[in-house]
Amino acid sequence: MEVPCVAVARTDGEQTRQTLAKAGVLGDDYQIVHDEGTLYIPVSDPASVPDGFETTTRELPPRQTIQTPADLLGFEPSLERLGDVVILDEDDNDRATAIAEAVIESDLPVRSVLNRASKIKGELRVRDWELLAERDDADAEADRKPTETVHREYGHEFLLDLDAVYFSPRLATERHRVVEQIQPDEQVIDMFAGVGPFAIPAASRGAAVVAVDLNETAIEYLRENAHRNGVSDRITPIAGDIREVAADYHGWADRLVMNLPHSANEFVETAVDLAGEECVLHYYDIQHDSDPFGPGIETIRTAADPAYEVTVETEHVVRSYAPHELNVCLDVRLTRR
Ligand SMILES: C[S@@+](CC[C@H](N)C(=O)[O-])C[C@H]1O[C@@H](n2cnc3c(N)ncnc32)[C@H](O)[C@@H]1O
Repeated sequence: MEVPCVAVARTDGEQTRQTLAKAGVLGDDYQIVHDEGTLYIPVSDPASVPDGFETTTRELPPRQTIQTPADLLGFEPSLERLGDVVILDEDDNDRATAIAEAVIESDLPVRSVLNRASKIKGELRVRDWELLAERDDADAEADRKPTETVHREYGHEFLLDLDAVYFSPRLATERHRVVEQIQPDEQVIDMFAGVGPFAIPAASRGAAVVAVDLNETAIEYLRENAHRNGVSDRITPIAGDIREVAADYHGWADRLVMNLPHSANEFVETAVDLAGEECVLHYYDIQHDSDPFGPGIETIRTAADPAYEVTVETEHVVRSYAPHELNVCLDVRLTRR
């Protein structure tokens, strides 16, 4: 379709576009086209184009617009994306259904919409989910469970089933902070490894990694993820209780990741048993904001004394967990006396 537009030399394009936008005559429905050094910028009303510009008409392609859930709903819904799964945290069933339908109808590349149906619970730290909506394309991905997805984080990919394992994309920055500290040839034990979001990037940095989890399904995914990310040769996945696995790795670790924040204090003696001559501990905790680091430091000092000197290298707030409760990480160096 012939569209009114302004023709300008390519070098004047951005300045012209801004002038037309300021004058309120930029045509939003069509794309700008470049042809032999000239740009054709669509305008909504040629009569209102400021003086000094050459107006003409030309065939321009319509602008491709992406329809978002907000376009369909008339409000911005609160949602989280994990690969091709959308996660809601809605108590109101009608609102949850409306959002889910809008997500599926929108142009977002989404396969299923889930609502949180319980808190994270039990030793395996998994929650219940309600399946709100699912796209019924008969594509190659259709055999996957609606709770299974591939999440990408800092250049790695993780296949996981939310219904069977713990996973939080909100910890991506924190995991990256820890992983960046790892040196090639370190010996790392991830004591609560899940599907491998610490362990696999650690192996990518050249570390030898032992990844332990009580959840057998998580370890199956971790094994698959190690393969997907090309680090199977540097990871030893072990399904089991770290307190029992520790007997085989006494004094082995240069670095320990302890991401089980509600009960990490119960595993500090195991951590000390795993520590080598010098070992950095990444100790996750959830504490009241009046003293978020004190209890963890006290627990570590008590368990490490007298064998190790304890140096607290970082006191880091990861995120707010609940009113007056913080999820924190202590980076602590243990040096054998
Ligand atoms: C909070 S999740 C962290 C998972 C992973 N590090 C991540 O960031 O996604 C804690 C994990 O510890 C595992 N776990 C709980 N008790 C354990 C134990 N005694 N030994 C080994 N793993 C355990 C759970 O199954 C769960 O996968």
